[in-house]
Amino acid sequence: MITALVSKKGGVGKTTTCVNLAAALASIGKKVLVVDLDSQASASLSLGIPRERLAPSSADVLLHSMPVGEAIRPTRTGGLDILPASSDLTNFDSIMATRPDKELLLRRQLRPAETFYDFILVDCPSSLSLLPLSALVAADNFILPVVPQYLALEGVQNLLPTAQRLHLRFGKRTDLLGIVLTIVDYRTKTNRDNINLIRGQFGSAVFAIEIRTNIRLAEAPAEGMTIFEFDPGSAGAKAYRLLAAETLIRASHLRRPGTRAQAV
Ligand SMILES: Nc1ncnc2c1ncn2[C@@H]1O[C@H](COP(=O)(O)OP(=O)(O)OP(=O)(O)O)[C@@H](O)[C@H]1O
Ligand SMILES: [Mg+2]
Repeated sequence: MITALVSKKGGVGKTTTCVNLAAALASIGKKVLVVDLDSQASASLSLGIPRERLAPSSADVLLHSMPVGEAIRPTRTGGLDILPASSDLTNFDSIMATRPDKELLLRRQLRPAETFYDFILVDCPSSLSLLPLSALVAADNFILPVVPQYLALEGVQNLLPTAQRLHLRFGKRTDLLGIVLTIVDYRTKTNRDNINLIRGQFGSAVFAIEIRTNIRLAEAPAEGMTIFEFDPGSAGAKAYRLLAAETLIRASHLRRPGTRAQAV
């Protein structure tokens, strides 16, 4: 199953969620691949890949037709592999501008990897440029992280019609696996009000677990570690274990034919 982590807004916890959800799924015995599509390579660095060893990367797979298996490598976490990103992705949109079927390239290139993994999580740059669109086309479903702050609802409302349009254009559906509330601070009234607003509007499409602000989650990437390596007893680690458990339940509902409860 391929799941894209997308949002038009930056800094909402896409990478943190991608890396730690992937590690939590791997720790319960799932075979997991993280595909890093962000030229900043935050997910790759967070998983302990040194900057000087980012190549070969997803840029080689997408721009130079490298078979995906040649660029994937293991991480320190058993069962968790990474297809790193590199700064070569920076001009991806302009390089690909005239190429026909450019949105389908990632889907084609990831196909050989699909049978090896229970979960492929794709970390996207913030925007709805070609790379996140390609991830949505390649994915079976997507997770939308939202920080319950000012204009949070707008971020959700922007993205859902985009996924719908892709369905019309490419003849495949990409379901919403769930909206996940991240960097939640219950002390602020804005956060509490926005959580109510989002839950009121999107109901069961919102993950029950909320990822609260946790300093350990913000510190782990600088050490090139997942939260489970950095501080397995932290509230952040506990939250991502719960998110993994809920992801398994949601994924099993989506997989059952005719029960696409969260369909977009
Ligand atoms: N639950 C949390 N508690 C505290 N800090 C967090 C939490 N989740 C994420 N952060 C921090 O917030 C910042 C943004 O998170 P992250 O990089 O995961 O977001 P993103 O959506 O991937 O951002 P970008 O748009 O830059 O790709 C990072 O510094 C990260 O360490
Ligand atoms: Mg990111």
